[in-house]
Amino acid sequence: MEFEIRDSLDGIQADAIVVALPEDAERSDPRFSATANPLFTSGDLPLKPFETLLLPGTPRIVFVGIPKAADLEAWRRMAATVVRRMKKVKRLAFSCGDVRALVEGVLVGSFSVEAYKTSNSRPGVEKIIFAGTDRKPVDEGVIVGESINWARGLINEPSNRKPPRVIAERAREMAAGAGLAVDILDERALRDLKMGALLGVGQGSEEPPRLVVLRHAGNPGSPKLLAYVGKGITFDSGGISIKAAEGMEKMKYDMAGGATAMAALRTLALFRAPVNCMAVVPLAENMPSGRAQRPGDVVESMSGKTIEVINTDAEGRLILADALAYARSLRATHLVDIATLTGAARIALGPFRAGVMGNDQSFIDSFLAAAKRVGEKMWQMPMDDEYRDLIKSTVADVANSGGRFAGMITAAKFLQEFVGGTPWVHVDIASTAWNDEDKPYLPKGPSGVALRSLVEFALGFGRGLATD
Ligand code: BES
Ligand code: MN
Ligand code: ZN
Repeated sequence: MEFEIRDSLDGIQADAIVVALPEDAERSDPRFSATANPLFTSGDLPLKPFETLLLPGTPRIVFVGIPKAADLEAWRRMAATVVRRMKKVKRLAFSCGDVRALVEGVLVGSFSVEAYKTSNSRPGVEKIIFAGTDRKPVDEGVIVGESINWARGLINEPSNRKPPRVIAERAREMAAGAGLAVDILDERALRDLKMGALLGVGQGSEEPPRLVVLRHAGNPGSPKLLAYVGKGITFDSGGISIKAAEGMEKMKYDMAGGATAMAALRTLALFRAPVNCMAVVPLAENMPSGRAQRPGDVVESMSGKTIEVINTDAEGRLILADALAYARSLRATHLVDIATLTGAARIALGPFRAGVMGNDQSFIDSFLAAAKRVGEKMWQMPMDDEYRDLIKSTVADVANSGGRFAGMITAAKFLQEFVGGTPWVHVDIASTAWNDEDKPYLPKGPSGVALRSLVEFALGFGRGLATD
C-alpha cells in the first residue's frame, strides 16, 4: 500500500473520495454539499455507522456513516470498512478523520484471510491519499498496521505450515528487519534449562518445541525490563485428553498470544521506543501419540515446582509456567502474559472482551488504562486466594486443571505460582483473538487483538507510568 500526502484534495488523481458523516448528520462538509444535499432531502443520507453509499463520478464519492462521537476506533473501523468494500477503486482519498487511525484501518482492512485460495479476492486499493497532514501519523500507522497484519498472517497460517521450528524462523526474519535481538532455544537448550513443563507438552509431537526471545533495549540506562510472554501452541489437539472434532481446526490460532507479543516487539523497535522490552514465546505442538504425556503424569518445571498434569488439554499454562520462570531468570522486572488460554474466557466474556487478571492492582490498572486508550475491550476478573484451593494436587505442588468452576481464574491462579513477587498481568484472549463472524470492518479470522494495547502499555511503561 502506498500513502501520498498532498496540500489539498483539489485536483487530485483519485478514483474515489471518502466522506464520513455522523449517523445523525443533517448536512455534509461544504466541499461535498452539492452532492450530499439532495441525498439528505431524499432520505438516503445520513447512514448508519459503517454503512456505505457509493456514487459514480470522477472521482466517485463514498459516503460512509460513523458513530456520533467518533473516537479513534471509529475512524479505524470506518477506513477498514471502506477498503473492504472497494472492489474497483485503486486510488482512494480520505477527506477527514484521524490520519494515524485511518492508516491503521486501511492496512487492517486490506488483510486477506484467503492466503491459500488459488484466486484470491484481495481488496484492490493500492494507494491512499490524504491532504494537509505531516508524515509522522502516516509512518506510525503503517508500523502498527503492518505489525497487526504480521501477527494475523502467522495466526491464520495452517498448523502444517507453522510448526515451532518454522515460527522461530519467521521470528528470526522479522527480528532482522526490525532491528530486534533474537535468541532461539532448541530442544537441547530447553532440556539444559530443565523446562520440564514445556518439554512435556511438546513430547507427543514429531515437531520439537522451541522458545523465542526477542529483545528491544530502548532505554539502556534503566533497570526496568518489561517481558511480554505469549502462548505459542502451534496446534492444540488437546493431546491424550483429545478435543472433540467439531471446531478443532480453529486450534491453529492457539499461538495468537505469542504472535501478538512478537508483533508488539516489532512495533516498539520500529518506533525506537525508549523502553526495555522483550517477548518470550514458548512454542510447542500439543499432539497425542505413543510418546505423548498422559493425564496423571508429573512434570518438574524450570522453577523447581512440580505439576500434576490432570488434563493434557490444559497445556497453555504448562508452557507459560516455564516461559514466565525463564523471563524472570532473564531479569524481567515486570511480566505481562498473553494467551488463548481457556474456553472459560469465552463462556464468561463472549467474543467482546478479553479477561485480565494479575497480582498487583496498580500494575493491572495501568494495563487496563492503556487498553482503554486504544479502544480494546478488556475486563478484570477476581483472584481471591480461595480459587487456589481448586488446583491442589495430591501428589505434586500444583495441578494443571481445576475442574468445572471458574476456569478462567483457576488458569490464572496456576500461572501465579510461577511469577513469584514480580508484578504481573495475565491477559486471556481466547474469546477475542479469532473473529467468528464476518463484520464490515473485519473478516472472519484472526483479529490481531491486543497488539495495540501491548504497544500503548509499553510506551507508558517507558515513561514510568504507574510501574514503580
Ligand atoms: N487453547 C485452549 C483454550 C481455547 C479454547 C482457546 C477455545 C480458544 C478457543 C486451551 O488450551 C484449553 O484447551 N483449555 C481447556 C482447559 C481445561 C482442560 C482445564 C479449556 O478451556 O477447556
Ligand atoms: Mn488445550
Ligand atoms: Zn491451548
